[in-house]
Order: sequence, then C-alpha cells, then structure tokens
Amino acid sequence: MKEVNVLVTGAAGQIGYALLTRLASGETFGSDVKVNLNLVEVPQVVSRLEGSRMELEDCGFNTLGAIKNFSDMNEASGDIDWALLVGSIPRGITINGKKIEERADLLKINGGIFTEQGKALGENAKTDAKILVVGNPANTNALIGSTHGNNPSQTWMAMTALDANRAKAQVANKCDLSISDIKKMTIWGNHSPTMYPDLDNAEIKGESASGWINDQAWIESDFLRIVQQRGKAIIDARGASSATSAANAAIDTVKASLRTTADDDWFSAAVMSDGSYNIPEGLIFGFPLKADAEGKISIVQDLPISDYAQGKIDLTTQELLDEKNDVVDLL
Ligand code: NAD
Ligand code: LMR
Repeated sequence: MKEVNVLVTGAAGQIGYALLTRLASGETFGSDVKVNLNLVEVPQVVSRLEGSRMELEDCGFNTLGAIKNFSDMNEASGDIDWALLVGSIPRGITINGKKIEERADLLKINGGIFTEQGKALGENAKTDAKILVVGNPANTNALIGSTHGNNPSQTWMAMTALDANRAKAQVANKCDLSISDIKKMTIWGNHSPTMYPDLDNAEIKGESASGWINDQAWIESDFLRIVQQRGKAIIDARGASSATSAANAAIDTVKASLRTTADDDWFSAAVMSDGSYNIPEGLIFGFPLKADAEGKISIVQDLPISDYAQGKIDLTTQELLDEKNDVVDLL
C-alpha cells in the first residue's frame, strides 16, 4: 500500500477534531493509501491527543497508518508530505480580559507560531511537501511560515476554500441550483472581510455567474456582505468559530491539489504571488488555481477583471500589505 505522511497542528482543537477522521478514512488520499498522522499540540494539551488516537483506532479505517503525538515541530516534521497548520487562537475568545474580535488582533498572537513551524517544515519535511495554513490570519501566517521555511520546492497555501464554498452556497440558494452547477469560484486576496468572491469569472452551466444571476444589486450588497462576514456570523451564532465547514474546506483543498483540475473548473486558495494580476510579489494571495498530474499548482492567467472588481482587489491587496508591514519583525 502507498503511504502519505500528514502533520496536523492544533489537532486537539475543534477543527482538528473534525479533520482527523476525514484524513484517515480513505476519502481524502484514496482507499489504496495508508495515512500516517503526526499530531501536534502545545505541551499542556498534547495528552488529549491520546483520546483522538484511540477514537481513530476505533473507527476501523483500513487506511489508517501510524499515529504519533508531538509537542515539538522539529520532531513532528520529518518526512512529511502534507502539513495542515490549524494550531492557533481563534477569534471570539477572551485573553487577559480582552475579547479577540478582529483578525488583526490575532496577528501578534498567532504570527509567532509560524516562524518556528515554518523553519521546522523547511528543514525536515519532504522537498515537495504541501503546507496548508488554516490558523488565522491565514495568509500572513503562511507568509511568515514560508519565509522561515525558505524551501522554494515546498508549496505553501492559505485556506480560502471555505470562502469559496460559502460563495457557492449563497449562489445555489439564490438561483435554486445544485452546488455542482457552480464552477470556477475565485476568492481574490485575504481570508478576511476584504476578500473578493468573483462572480464575473465564476460559471453556472458554462455561463458567467453574474450574467446568469442578473441581479447586480444582490451581488454587490447581500452576496458580498454575507460571504465576507460569514465567519463572524457563525461565531456570533455558535459562540465558537466555524469548525466542521473549516475542516471540510481543508479536505477540499487537499483533494483539489492531489488531482488534475477538470478543464471546466478551478479551485481557490492563497499562494505566493508571482506578480500575476499585478499583485505585488511576496504576498500570500487568493487566486484561481489549477493542479496538474505532477501535483504542481499554478495560477489561472488572463481572466478579465472589471473596474469594480479591481477596486475590491486593490482593497484586499492593501490589507495584506498592511498585515505584512505589521509583522515585519517576524519575516
Ligand atoms: P481551537 O482553539 O479549538 O483549537 C486550536 C488548537 O490549536 C488548540 O487545541 C491549541 O492548543 C492548538 N495550538 C495553539 N498553538 C499551537 C501551536 N503553537 N502548535 C500546535 N498547536 C497549537 O481553534 P479552532 O476552532 O480549531 O481554530 C483554529 C484556527 O483556525 C483559528 O485560528 C481559527 O481562526 C482558524 N480558522 C480558519 C479558517 C479559514 O477558513 N482559514 C476557518 C475557521 C477557523
Ligand atoms: C471563518 O472564516 O469562519 C474563520 O476564519 C473564523 C473567523 O474568525 O472568521
């Protein structure tokens, strides 16, 4: 049986709990691939991973390989094919009497985690490892991690698939369509309220989604607001940040990266900008992406961008430049 080595940080947290069974079950990597899991937590919590290990064993998956628990990233990173970096503090909790409301508040708290983790992965993970950052602020955390990883043959991504799934769900509800009718959803920029979900270049049954919907007022007000603010709406309703849907989006991103992307589709994640669409190099930016048979991920080129869309893309670019500036001491 083939094997894949997967590292998950924050494995005892909410998203981690929802993620592990789906990584181990055969759903993500295939029924012919054994999944070895290196689970990473902070020292105070690492013992709880023993419970996760027992539950995984009790699921009886044929595809479950070895499970090892770690609190040291250097030890955990050896020979890793995939790293899912979830471990970090979510919004909505109170630290030292201050409620953490905005992603910007998370920058200083979480950014530091990714210096050490990036370095460990750069030195110890496989040369073609793929690293997906889920912990917020995901784009800038990925920038910090990839800078310290300093290993250009590894691929760093920050997750925007949840935003793409949210955008598809809103369109499906509005137009009474199946999710599978909606293709080519791009989330431009940051995983934050400045993200821009692009319905001009998304397609419904082969037509531009914005043309199909034919209701620009809905697109520019309700749709944009709901998608951009969905994370907060879930925190307000649930008293905790999204977990099942976040884990699901991480699985979607891994699956999308493993298989050649269909001709009539693409997927959304944030990757290192190479100057495409005039986005400054050196930002982890949400783009439309395709994967090829060799596992290489590339940015879809030459999409038309309207003046309205360009204004939104400029806003999210500026936010990422500001975030980068705020963590310059970590880069
Ligand atoms: P959680 O608090 O339930 O779990 C986080 C876990 O990370 C905890 O168990 C904690 O001990 C662990 N952790 C903290 N620092 C660590 C470190 N240095 N190394 C290893 N583990 C560490 O939080 P959650 O709900 O699972 O959310 C995790 C992160 O994901 C948050 O930052 C949240 O904002 C983010 N998130 C991102 C998206 C997205 O779309 N990108 C969606 C939802 C949530
Ligand atoms: C989300 O989008 O659900 C997460 O990023 C959590 C948050 O803080 O919004």
